[in-house]
Amino acid sequence: MRNKLIAGNWKMNLTGVQIATLIGALSKQHIPTCVEVLLLPAFPYLAEVRTLLDGCQLKLGAQNLCAHEPGAFTGEVAAEMLLDVGCEYVLVGHSERRALFAESDEVVAVKFARAVAGGLKPILCVGETLPERESGAAFSVIKRQLDVVIANCGIDMFENAVLAYEPVWAIGTGRTASPEQAQEIHMYLRSQIAVHSAKLAGSIQILYGGSVKGANAVELLNMADIDGALVGGASLKASDFQEIIAAA
Ligand code: PGA
Repeated sequence: MRNKLIAGNWKMNLTGVQIATLIGALSKQHIPTCVEVLLLPAFPYLAEVRTLLDGCQLKLGAQNLCAHEPGAFTGEVAAEMLLDVGCEYVLVGHSERRALFAESDEVVAVKFARAVAGGLKPILCVGETLPERESGAAFSVIKRQLDVVIANCGIDMFENAVLAYEPVWAIGTGRTASPEQAQEIHMYLRSQIAVHSAKLAGSIQILYGGSVKGANAVELLNMADIDGALVGGASLKASDFQEIIAAA
């Protein structure tokens, strides 16, 4: 049985006071042991959030990391630093990084390997754009995004990783993939992992992301291959995020 993982990707939102209020509310919710809840704040707040989370079971992760080892890379943040401030997870290959910061499949693969080398669990995000879906290319795009990471890093690195299917057309748009559309891709991703390791295919968590909210979380999370949610907008307000946690 795979645990459900609910991750809140705050993106470039929230400042100190708002974060303290949000965590104050979130830490009051009872969370069963089969559900993991993860917060992904912006870099400047990681250490502070770690302190606020002391004594509660919520986990901490970052939204990005540098593709290089510690050294002369002005303005960048290394995996080792994220681990040092208490991060357990890091997002890799989010579509906003791919589209707005020109991160190629190859850069994503390097960051994935760096995350694992630095002691973090990468959450590898994959997903197609609307034109790609409409032209029937969704499966081939996702396969390419996954295959480059497997080819460069090896399947064993996925033992400490999570996958996230995030159709780009569903991110921040209010438009969600139907549970059936999401399940179809999740099942496909699992089958692609199974080509290399049946055991890993059975254990790896695959999250769905893209306009997840309280109103659609139950039906998405009920699908056989959906093991959690990567939540953007709805993770910024305690009551919205708590509804999704309750659904899990
Ligand atoms: P959204 O974002 O929930 O606001 O659509 C999801 C994500 O980008 O991870």
